[in-house]
Amino acid sequence: MTLAKKLFVKTYGCQMNVYDSARMADVLTPLGYAPADGPEDADMVILNTCHIREKAAEKVFSELGRLKRLQAAKAAQGSRMILAVAGCVAQAEGEEILRRAPFVDIVLGPQTYHRLPEMVAQAARAGGAVLDTEFPPEPKFDFLPDARAEGSSAFLSVQEGCDKFCTFCVVPYTRGAEYSRPAAAVLAEATRLAEQGVCELTLLGQNVNGWHGGEGWGLGRLIRAIARIDGIERIRYTTSHPRDMQDDLIAAHAELPELMPFLHLPVQSGSDRILSAMNRGHDREAYIRLAQRLKAAQPDLALSSDFIVGFPGETDADFADSLALVREVGFVQTYSFKYSPRPGTPAAAMERQVPEPVKEARLAELQTLLLEQTNVFNRSCIGREMRVLLDRTGRHAGQVLGRSPYMQPVHVKAAAHLIGQVVPIRITALHPNSLEGVPV
Ligand code: 5AD
Ligand code: SF4
Repeated sequence: MTLAKKLFVKTYGCQMNVYDSARMADVLTPLGYAPADGPEDADMVILNTCHIREKAAEKVFSELGRLKRLQAAKAAQGSRMILAVAGCVAQAEGEEILRRAPFVDIVLGPQTYHRLPEMVAQAARAGGAVLDTEFPPEPKFDFLPDARAEGSSAFLSVQEGCDKFCTFCVVPYTRGAEYSRPAAAVLAEATRLAEQGVCELTLLGQNVNGWHGGEGWGLGRLIRAIARIDGIERIRYTTSHPRDMQDDLIAAHAELPELMPFLHLPVQSGSDRILSAMNRGHDREAYIRLAQRLKAAQPDLALSSDFIVGFPGETDADFADSLALVREVGFVQTYSFKYSPRPGTPAAAMERQVPEPVKEARLAELQTLLLEQTNVFNRSCIGREMRVLLDRTGRHAGQVLGRSPYMQPVHVKAAAHLIGQVVPIRITALHPNSLEGVPV
């Protein structure tokens, strides 16, 4: 018999980390670990970390400082708290973590989660830390249990890693080479999720549209197969690279009502010079043409993007090209970031780093424009009828919350028995962070 123990996982960064955190909790269930409400009542804490920008990485060290005190307080009461650092900071700075935070018991990279039970056993037995940041030959997916449903919407990892080597990005170093899960494994996991009541699947990958499953199998075909699974009503995929947007995937947007008309397709910059220095592998014109083809396939399609401001060498004219591209493509939502030099990446060593105040000013200007465009789009939704996946009760009595096809939060006065269903809703009003609607 296993003794009941409590596990708390804190997740930073992207949706892939959210998926991975759930899988880590799953592999520890057979060891007797049940979810804890917070680190205070946990016997084991895992920080699943993000290394994409400096700020994200620094957060980990400050959180470790807090956990150290908690761990010491527990030890004074005669109980032990195992502390693990997982994810991309662990991969990139494993040794550094153990040097700066020697009280950490386990450091593990994103490719070794399936070995976590062994590491816990080892940490429980011995003093000294366990470090595993290998890229093992066996894919972790072969050893991890499938995702379990926790509602009507679920993430499903289909691809991991990146071979694109954008000059600013740490992902190819922390997540390793591009890997696609076999179609059969993905379809089996999707079917099991649907059987548990999931009707919306978000396929995840660092280069999700680079997914390939052998001869003739690209992401478009995989999505068609998922759309045929009973109960699956909505499909999304993220994050895509413009270079991997195959014809068949674009065609799927035209054909499949299940494929949501909202696509996150990061462009990073609107300047050809900067796109080239970033090693993005396409120019501004190619991106615009791609956006046009997508909108021709699915006229309701809305695009979202990521932008980096202050990449080394970015001039006022380059930045103006980014602003112009935002207007030209008409992004309805965008995430924008100040360039953050990441150790070991080519851009960190480039000359003409942009001063911090310039980055700040450009970020503010870009964000103002993006917010304007998001607001225009949200206002254009008033009066429209949309199919909304209602997935939670709201804070007020008789209120239910859901997501529009464009990921906008929508609140609706409706009966709770509609939760878990995709319901036609007429949008009636716009609030600062959400839409309001009524069932049609
Ligand atoms: N600095 C700033 N932003 C970055 N991103 C990736 N690396 C960096 C960096 N070094 C952004 C990109 C990417 C998103 C996930 O994070 O815009 O699309
Ligand atoms: Fe990073 Fe570029 Fe790969 Fe995206 S495509 S993960 S930005 S290297």
